[in-house]
Amino acid sequence: MASRRLTSAALSGRILVVDDHPAMAAVVSEALSDAGWTCEVETGGQAATAALRDRAFDLVITDLRMADVDGFDVLAAARDTDPDLPVIIMTAFGGIDSAIEAMRRGAHHYVTKPVRLEELRLHVERAVAERRLRREHRALHAASRGGLDALVGSSPAMRALADLITRVAPSPAPVLIRGESGTGKELVARALHAAGPRRDRPFVAVNCTALPETLLESELFGHVRGAFTGATTARAGLFVEAAGGTLFLDEIGDMPPALQAKLLRVVQLGEVRPVGSDDGQSVDVRLVSATHRDLEERMRSGAFREDLYYRLDVVPVVVPPLRERSEDIPALAAHFFAQSCARNPHSPARRLAPELVAALARESWPGNVRELENHIERMVVVATGPRLGVEALDRVRTAAASGGGDRVRTLREVQDEHIAQVLARCGGNKTRAAELLGVDPSTLHRRTRRD
Ligand SMILES: Nc1ncnc2c1ncn2[C@@H]1O[C@H](COP(=O)(O)OP(=O)(O)OP(=O)(O)O)[C@@H](O)[C@H]1O
Ligand SMILES: [Mg+2]
Repeated sequence: MASRRLTSAALSGRILVVDDHPAMAAVVSEALSDAGWTCEVETGGQAATAALRDRAFDLVITDLRMADVDGFDVLAAARDTDPDLPVIIMTAFGGIDSAIEAMRRGAHHYVTKPVRLEELRLHVERAVAERRLRREHRALHAASRGGLDALVGSSPAMRALADLITRVAPSPAPVLIRGESGTGKELVARALHAAGPRRDRPFVAVNCTALPETLLESELFGHVRGAFTGATTARAGLFVEAAGGTLFLDEIGDMPPALQAKLLRVVQLGEVRPVGSDDGQSVDVRLVSATHRDLEERMRSGAFREDLYYRLDVVPVVVPPLRERSEDIPALAAHFFAQSCARNPHSPARRLAPELVAALARESWPGNVRELENHIERMVVVATGPRLGVEALDRVRTAAASGGGDRVRTLREVQDEHIAQVLARCGGNKTRAAELLGVDPSTLHRRTRRD
């Protein structure tokens, strides 16, 4: 029955039960285990804070008055490993004032002793459900933000960039975005589109290095039927597809010279001529181009047309390298961490330690934002506990160094890494992972048995 399945799915999760009276802890954990939760019991605050450091939980229930480390400390430790982790306080009748103080410090709820188990179960269910909803909402929100909001970072450079985007988005003038690889040029192009009056019209991206010259030409401008062998039907081309919207010409610095001449014509006349046709068709498209190349150098060597450059570079936009805006790193790291956690729900990672964020901010990131994003994804995928510290960075860096640099990774290494990632996503379920990878479960078992 669908509704039954829904209930049992909602009731899965790990709960840490903390009480220095073992009998009390046992009663609570048994009642919750009966309801489908996985419980871990700790009979002291010290052990509980250690457990919070090492393992990921979905909820904590703790007694307030304990002999060694009290419930306030457990609460603080829980909030330190994962600010989102709900904590329910158990308190004797006389301790309500302290329970209220605990709520003020971020506890989710409190229950008085003797604990009414049915009431406790409801609080647990609600707290875990709310937390899941919050996470889903955050992931959805992050995924749906298209425009300026998607550009994380409030350094002076990023604020100036956002300001420039806001000012030029309303105009149809061509924009040329320049910046090193991985700095966010494509994101800026999308923001320009989303922040302007064309946002409800198409945003069409084309990578000028992805296709051989002749194919790129018909891809961009379309072709008539019979224009070349295999052109059995006419095709409109990306300029026409982007009509009313934005055409993003990525890696424009690598466009072959013959095509540059044709593109220049389109820009000058405002009309495209499909391959094999004598008739032009006028199109209203905003051109946004991007390149990581040194265009001045390419113009000097004759690889890039100067006249085209001036046509495309009406509004120059420069995306600075990450090392020049390291103050953006903490916000970017938090953003990518939240995204990675949403993509990898089985990873125990819950929080980036401040020392790790500081270490990330000191790196020079030659691969810019993309490299930072990849590092965080790897740390989340291989995480062994809720809190990612500097050792997590060391671990992925060592892995990258042994498999990275200029050495080409073997197919086997790439496959192994991919298998590990998919397995992590499936919470270690090999049957499910084999299904996603499109291989026989026995093959996967064999491949993962080696280590
Ligand atoms: N300011 C930012 N906020 C959030 N995410 C960002 C930001 N800048 C870049 N990213 C992310 O970093 C990754 C690389 O960005 P993008 O693809 O736009 O770079 P690029 O400059 O086009 O790189 P390349 O020259 O290699 O094509 C993407 O996943 C993008 O979403
Ligand atoms: Mg790009």
